[in-house]
Amino acid sequence: EFMREMSGLSNMEKQLKAILGISQVLILPQDSDDIPAVKTKIGKEAARLLEMKFPLHKKIAVTGGSTMAAISKEISSDKRDRSLQFIAARGGLGEDVLHQANTIASLFAEKTGGAVKTLYLPDHLSAEAYEMMMREPVIKEMMDLYDETDVVVHGIGNAEEIALHRKSSPEEVEMIRKGGAVSEAFGYYFDNEGNVVYRIRTAGIQMEQVQKAKAILAVAGGRSKAKAILSYFNIAPRQTVLVTDEGAARKIIELT
Ligand code: F6P
Repeated sequence: EFMREMSGLSNMEKQLKAILGISQVLILPQDSDDIPAVKTKIGKEAARLLEMKFPLHKKIAVTGGSTMAAISKEISSDKRDRSLQFIAARGGLGEDVLHQANTIASLFAEKTGGAVKTLYLPDHLSAEAYEMMMREPVIKEMMDLYDETDVVVHGIGNAEEIALHRKSSPEEVEMIRKGGAVSEAFGYYFDNEGNVVYRIRTAGIQMEQVQKAKAILAVAGGRSKAKAILSYFNIAPRQTVLVTDEGAARKIIELT
């Protein structure tokens, strides 16, 4: 704690709380854009925060991405709890397997001894396929589960980077560009003010369902994500706790 005071991190945490309008922010030293080990530290911190929720909150929805993968690696297998249930927040077959919500939810479950609910659906469904899928009982069951979610743990990405990474169609990339999308979370793309400019058509947790969660952990670091974090926190539910790094924090303060 003394070291945090000395390095100015706790002061930056205070500033970020005010800027983002939330009551808890945790900043890890240095910048994960430059030093990959910082992402591991972010993962560790988020894992400890999440584990503190386990005794009271059993239904936990998780998204994908490399930061979420870093958390899953740091979850301890000491305190096994079979009443925990990890839910993949999205169908997401558009990205590499290790970074899919399904894979990450499974890893959490394996480590904690909890159960897992996965959802294997392509990321870009046609309107017709989407309508049909939503009528399937297994998908409906998943949608109901999202309604009962206690905790949501998620990453935040740069809109364009994510769109290209997901091999979105040229039309989608165009919509994202034209709409001025800056950030992405849960398959929603947001502009600088936090308006939804596009949403990928796949089964997944809805923003209204995220809002209802008792606890939310947003995990994203690196100065390259500063604008995305600022964009997303325009609409982030108040109960969201941010785990980030000094690189992102400094840049956010500089931008505001
Ligand atoms: O694709 C899943 C996802 O959680 C996105 O919603 C988010 O934008 C991205 O991953 C973050 O990925 P990373 O942690 O690798 O930057």
